[in-house]
Amino acid sequence: MNYEGLKIPNHVAIIMDGNGRWAKERGMTRSEGHKAGFSMLKKLTEYIFSRGIKVLSVYAFSTENFKRSKQEVNFLMNLFETKFKEYADIVKKKGIRVVFSGKKASPLPDKVIRIMQEIEEDTKENKVGILNLCVNYGGHLEIVEATKKICKLVQEGKLSLEEITEENFSHYLFQDLPPIDFMIRTSGEIRISNFMLYQLSYAEMYFSKVYFPSFDCQCFDDAILAYNKRNRRFGGIQDENENN
Ligand code: FPP
Repeated sequence: MNYEGLKIPNHVAIIMDGNGRWAKERGMTRSEGHKAGFSMLKKLTEYIFSRGIKVLSVYAFSTENFKRSKQEVNFLMNLFETKFKEYADIVKKKGIRVVFSGKKASPLPDKVIRIMQEIEEDTKENKVGILNLCVNYGGHLEIVEATKKICKLVQEGKLSLEEITEENFSHYLFQDLPPIDFMIRTSGEIRISNFMLYQLSYAEMYFSKVYFPSFDCQCFDDAILAYNKRNRRFGGIQDENENN
């Protein structure tokens, strides 16, 4: 779809849900569902950046996802190990920087952590846009970790309480990203699931019943059309002359 004349969100975030149910409906394994999810993610990512969106955040693996079966966790870790580079190379060519939000520590395998660090280093000069992959990520964890970083700086006398503001708090998060304008969650679940709690404060939200491996570029266009019908007021009122 041509996006000319449409409002384009600067930062889009996607909770990619429904890989397991997509697979079950087809008599396939959950792993096959994740593989299909990854294929769709590659297509969508290229499409999204080609349409002028500057920042894309995706929820690939939460801190809570480690509670899943060993087999499923291993499959996903293996997928990250073998596919992160292939995925990053696609966007790197378009001048996109790739960053990872989440704790780069155990229980993430060392190999996966190393690949994440290499990709961040390799793409750090790219300026066209940012792809933010949330891996071993939790929204509470991100805020707690930011608080610890700030406390340490205060303890060391490098930062004063007055210097901590709403404008600069995001410097201490896993990644310093602009606020999310539009969040999409697939598969019919209507919740945030500990995803980017700080950045979502004024995001418009869109919940689709479609499972992520079937959420294609046309589904994304539908979401953008819905976003264009939203009236964003950021806590203000639309018509200053409205009667009280
Ligand atoms: C949620 O669906 C999905 C995940 C926990 C994993 C998402 C990962 C991908 C789409 C692959 C990303 C890969 C790379 C290399 C970036 P679910 O398993 O909870 O589905 P269900 O709710 O139907 O069981």
